[in-house]
Amino acid sequence: MMGSRPFLSLSWLLLLGSAVCSTNPNLEIMKRMLDDMDEKAEPCHNFYNSSQKNLQWKEFATVSDQFQLLFDGIENEVFEKDSFEEKLQRFYKICLTKKRPSQLKFFELVPLGEDITWPFLTPAGSEWPKEKFKWIEALARLRRYGINDVMFGMSVRQDADSGQAIVVFEKKFDFLLRFMESLQNIGLPPNLAKEIAPLDKALQEMYKLDMNWEYNGNTAPGHRISLRELENYGVYLTKYLEIVFRRPFSPDFVVQVENLYYIMGLYELMTAVPSQVMATYLAARFNFYIMFTFMKHGGSCVTSMRHTMEFASNLLFEERILGRRKLRSYQNQAGKIFDAMRKQIHIRLERNSLELPAAMISTLQQKLNGLSLSIGNLPGKAGHRRFVTRFYKDLEFADDETSATAHLKVLEHRTRAELSILDQPNFRDRRYVIHSLPISNHFFETAIEENENTIYVAYDLLADDAFDTDSHDIFKMTPLGIRFTMEMLKSLDLYNCKRYKVNMLEMFDDNQIITAGDNCLSLLSQENANSQREQYLVVLHLVHEAYFAEDSKFSQRQPNFTTMSLTELFFFRFGQSSFGETLYSTSDFVEGGQPTNSLTRLPDFVRAFNCLAPEQELK
Ligand SMILES: *[C@@H]1O[C@H](CO)[C@@H](O)[C@H](O)[C@H]1NC(C)=O
Ligand SMILES: *[C@@H]1O[C@H](CO)[C@@H](O)[C@H](O)[C@H]1NC(C)=O
Repeated sequence: MMGSRPFLSLSWLLLLGSAVCSTNPNLEIMKRMLDDMDEKAEPCHNFYNSSQKNLQWKEFATVSDQFQLLFDGIENEVFEKDSFEEKLQRFYKICLTKKRPSQLKFFELVPLGEDITWPFLTPAGSEWPKEKFKWIEALARLRRYGINDVMFGMSVRQDADSGQAIVVFEKKFDFLLRFMESLQNIGLPPNLAKEIAPLDKALQEMYKLDMNWEYNGNTAPGHRISLRELENYGVYLTKYLEIVFRRPFSPDFVVQVENLYYIMGLYELMTAVPSQVMATYLAARFNFYIMFTFMKHGGSCVTSMRHTMEFASNLLFEERILGRRKLRSYQNQAGKIFDAMRKQIHIRLERNSLELPAAMISTLQQKLNGLSLSIGNLPGKAGHRRFVTRFYKDLEFADDETSATAHLKVLEHRTRAELSILDQPNFRDRRYVIHSLPISNHFFETAIEENENTIYVAYDLLADDAFDTDSHDIFKMTPLGIRFTMEMLKSLDLYNCKRYKVNMLEMFDDNQIITAGDNCLSLLSQENANSQREQYLVVLHLVHEAYFAEDSKFSQRQPNFTTMSLTELFFFRFGQSSFGETLYSTSDFVEGGQPTNSLTRLPDFVRAFNCLAPEQELK
């Protein structure tokens, strides 16, 4: 990847990290911004064209190249035995191995059950013993490796009231995954795809039906329910838990079932699905998962390493690339934006325009106060090195490890850590995020796990020049402010209309942007593009408020490197960001015509550019 240099010394790397640029960073950033803009286009009428010339957004930066240097750099280093660095190095070397294991190897290592293997591994001449196949047990086996989005998901969370760990089951179907399409892209034989397509479709349908049903105001019984009671509904989850956790579970064990009717429907559906079809479906999902967690992306192991041994990789990055000073600077800069956004949310919770019960508001306030920010997904307080060393303590590679066994070992290890809070509840230590989806878009961005209290921001986002300590605050605010706000709203579960029975975003909508009102049904029937647009505008306004509020801690000084006003810069930054691109491509793009300029729905925007009123009609 990185040219012909086989191995870069670490001192060279350190220099790279701390190279000081003596020129004013603002000039650089401003120049780049202007290069991307089209000054002939008129922002009021053609905002996208004016902020992004030819509507061609560049790739957004990642620090994967730096991780590549880092991993290449440790390849030949000598580390203390059993240190996390040694384990990381070992795993990297295994990943680099030229000879890839055949996918079949993984299926041999992870059978469907104790005495049943995958249909295609059945020796010639004998028949696959389909009567021994239990779909729920097979799913449990896959869950041990972190696969948690096939049909339903199971996770361990903290109960908000008691603080105790609780096992939660909920429906899962990731529509973004476009599973069948991807399978065809990776060359799944058409006959196999044909065999499992109806099942995939049926699962999607069930998911959607259940969503409609719930939005219609229905709620399934038995939110908290014992394993024994669940059996009265035809739902058998004891064996599943026993396989995942490798220990017995009492029938009185209480779990939380978010979507009981869906899970009941699943059991019913499965009685009609031939075992062979189900096994093939699972094989395809497993194959897909392994491909994305292990296979090289563009010939490199970097993404795989950053995903599967995330904490070790991140610590190495922190120690060797960032350094203490840069980390501190990131913490201060991102933290300032984080606090400002939290404050904007607080202001509107306090205002409580939906007139919600005081107790509900106070729960939300508490939750909001409990949120913390982690740079690079490493938990902070007790020291990153200590956390990472402990996290990988039990991960041991044998001398004769093959790449398939090593990979499964790492996946299993991180899943065990994820689920261990059931038996050793220590939620205060859980200030990190474990990605269960191998190809998560949030991986190099920001993320929060459902029901958790840590929002993390990937190094990638902060690698931008804008986070140079000397650069103007206005450059830092978007897109980070937008991301933080979205994650905060998500952590409060405010996008969940079903839960609150009203559209909670209304509370944050100072400009009457949301057209569906506070009714969940009209929200559900709204086109996705529309609701996304409205969410973006609501959040963008909050970020604008945070920056320009009267008691703002951000610089209001008119920069000497441009004649543009700060608010103009604010919106151009947005237009050039990935959010601008998404808003354009998913909501405002018009086939064969000029894009809609939905920003004119924001009074902030209209004021910034002195737009005249007619655009208001776009509403
Ligand atoms: C905006 O950019 C696109 C892509 O280059 C171009 O087709 C379109 O004509 C431009 N519109 C205006 C009004 O400049
Ligand atoms: C602009 O301001 C910065 C400090 O804020 C200063 O270092 C720089 O010399 C100024 N540039 C010009 C052209 O006045």
